[in-house]
Amino acid sequence: MLKIENLTVEVAGKILLRDINLEVGKGHTNVLFGPNGAGKSALMRTIMGFSGYKVVSGRILFKGEDITELSVDERARKGIGIMMQRPPDMAGVRLRELVRAASGEKMDPEVLARALDMGRFLDRDVNVGFSGGEIKRSELLQLAAQGPDFYLLDEPESGVDLVSIEQVGTMIRGMLCAGIECAGERYEKGKSALIITHTGQVLDYVQADKGYILCNGMVMCSGNPLELLSEIKKRGYEECVRCKLKR
Ligand SMILES: Nc1ncnc2c1ncn2[C@@H]1O[C@H](COP(=O)(O)OP(=O)(O)O)[C@@H](O)[C@H]1O
Ligand SMILES: [Mg+2]
Repeated sequence: MLKIENLTVEVAGKILLRDINLEVGKGHTNVLFGPNGAGKSALMRTIMGFSGYKVVSGRILFKGEDITELSVDERARKGIGIMMQRPPDMAGVRLRELVRAASGEKMDPEVLARALDMGRFLDRDVNVGFSGGEIKRSELLQLAAQGPDFYLLDEPESGVDLVSIEQVGTMIRGMLCAGIECAGERYEKGKSALIITHTGQVLDYVQADKGYILCNGMVMCSGNPLELLSEIKKRGYEECVRCKLKR
């Protein structure tokens, strides 16, 4: 579904990502770990095609096609959707309008929002005065309306309290597995995702296939996500850099 080859990215005249290789198969969920400032969000923003993230070398393939030079909206139309870590407030724009637009005017925002228990937010300005959990749920509602094949989820649990995390986690699980419980089985029509997580909490809800550790703009290692998480908890990220230097 997504293949990143030898990607090096420059932002504001500085190299932020170096020689990144990463691959997410159809129906697979991969997770990205890494300390603050590692370049995780920058990688997602580069995949989505946000301005300011200049690809110096390498390429991004989506469904086999080179999308490195495409605009954000072209990538969205091809089936990539992003949930941002800190989306902006949009005073004057009602959530209802955004949800309708995200669905290409095809969906009734009311029906979708009700299914996700977000009905009462539709007539509020997007994110204005929303709590941390509500912001994440609003992002997920917009993503559900867009219905991408590939989800980029940037720290879905950040700023979400322990009770709301269950709502957010359950929503993500439903979206990635087309509403069908995974129960350890690969669901054929499942969507693909790349999820950034600090805490690993999202892994209580979503079964991930592979994890990557990003430090200083480089992939330090990859492997079983739960094993990586337990290593990080035990030894911290400094050890990742030392370990990489040893190899
Ligand atoms: N648009 C930008 N302009 C300047 N610096 C940026 C920009 N985007 C990210 N950075 C810098 O790149 C580094 C990595 O940021 P980011 O990808 O947000 O890290 P994280 O791994 O915490 O998500 C940080 O030092 C950040 O300040
Ligand atoms: Mg980030």
